[in-house]
Amino acid sequence: ETAGTVIKCRAAVTWCVNEPFSIEVVEVAPPKAHEIRIKMVYTGICGSDDNAVYGKFKDMQFPIILGHEGVGIVESIGGGVKGFKPGDKVIPLFAPQCGQCRCCKDPRTNICTTARMERPKGLMADGTSRFTCKGKKIYNFLNTSTFTEYTVIDEIAAVKIDENTALDNISLIGCGFSTGYGSALNAAKVHPGSSCAVFGLGGVGLAAVMGCKAAGASRIIGVDINKGKFGLAKELGATECINPKDYDKPIQQVLVEQTGGGLDYVFECIGDTETMVAAINSSHHGFGTTVIVGVSAANKTITFDPMIFLTGRTLTGSVFGGWKPKDSVPKLVHDYMEKKFDLDKLVTHRLPFEKINEGFDYLRKGKSIRTILRF
Ligand code: APR
Ligand code: ZN
Ligand code: ZN
Repeated sequence: ETAGTVIKCRAAVTWCVNEPFSIEVVEVAPPKAHEIRIKMVYTGICGSDDNAVYGKFKDMQFPIILGHEGVGIVESIGGGVKGFKPGDKVIPLFAPQCGQCRCCKDPRTNICTTARMERPKGLMADGTSRFTCKGKKIYNFLNTSTFTEYTVIDEIAAVKIDENTALDNISLIGCGFSTGYGSALNAAKVHPGSSCAVFGLGGVGLAAVMGCKAAGASRIIGVDINKGKFGLAKELGATECINPKDYDKPIQQVLVEQTGGGLDYVFECIGDTETMVAAINSSHHGFGTTVIVGVSAANKTITFDPMIFLTGRTLTGSVFGGWKPKDSVPKLVHDYMEKKFDLDKLVTHRLPFEKINEGFDYLRKGKSIRTILRF
């Protein structure tokens, strides 16, 4: 019986920017009111975790336990928790859903105002942390922190999934898969017969390719500077792949020429401001839609000639693929179990948790799509 006690367990702590992960023994305090403590079973390594190591995002403090794409089992619950009990299988939600705020009640968005505006960053709702290591307070990442054997999460930032779900690959529904797939289905609303381009063929971009295919796009162009990504992209639905390095002219010019004036839908799944502008300029001037999916660095801005929108282009973006997470994740899990999409193909590597640095190495060298760490 661990409920109500401080749990000592292993976690991968990032002590400061640009440091490798350090496997440490941490103390994880019991969940307070409206919190749950989760025993992690698997966690994926996402491009955003890597970006966080490099200090790309604002509102981030070290030392921190990163990781936001995971799956686990509820160990214990705090006071007032209604939707969870010990033993439940759960997916943490880096984009929470309180269900009460103006945005949660509006079908046009999946961004919860409570989570976004009214909660401290890197800490629980009461402004404190549940993690300590060597006497120091450790911050959490995106309400989740999955690079630890046990984590404590606000009840608005986790969702219960079917007890019969096979957990091996399902952590991808907690970020990469849903983010990319939903960007095509929800944010862009790709229509049958349309033309699409996906910039960046990592886990997020490949899931966007899957979404474009599921929506019936007839042309799906994968764009990446690593041609090692093209094989899987084609397997998942890309009809062709382009490496910008193979051309002397800008990639937007190549795409506009090859598509008779530009694409119906363009997805930026890299998080780079230059490729964001290239994506916009690759969309058709009369009706092209660009969806920003990648997360750009703190304080970076983009500039463009406003006339590019005068003729009818649309620029939008989505977090977590536009899915309202509490409502959608159980359905996505169900659809996965029914084999309506094949996210298993995105999992290229599996490692024990303590080999986390090796997993990040594969990502940085462009060798992996998703590595899943098992606890
Ligand atoms: N042009 C084309 N492709 C590029 C470029 C570029 N200038 N720069 C990088 N890429 C490709 C990489 O080669 C890689 O295949 O973009 C891909 C990025 O994939 P990952 O690093 O695996 O990242 P992923 O987990 O897919 O996340 C992508 O979404 O969640 C956000 O913060 C995350 O912004 C990141 C993005
Ligand atoms: Zn992610
Ligand atoms: Zn809300």
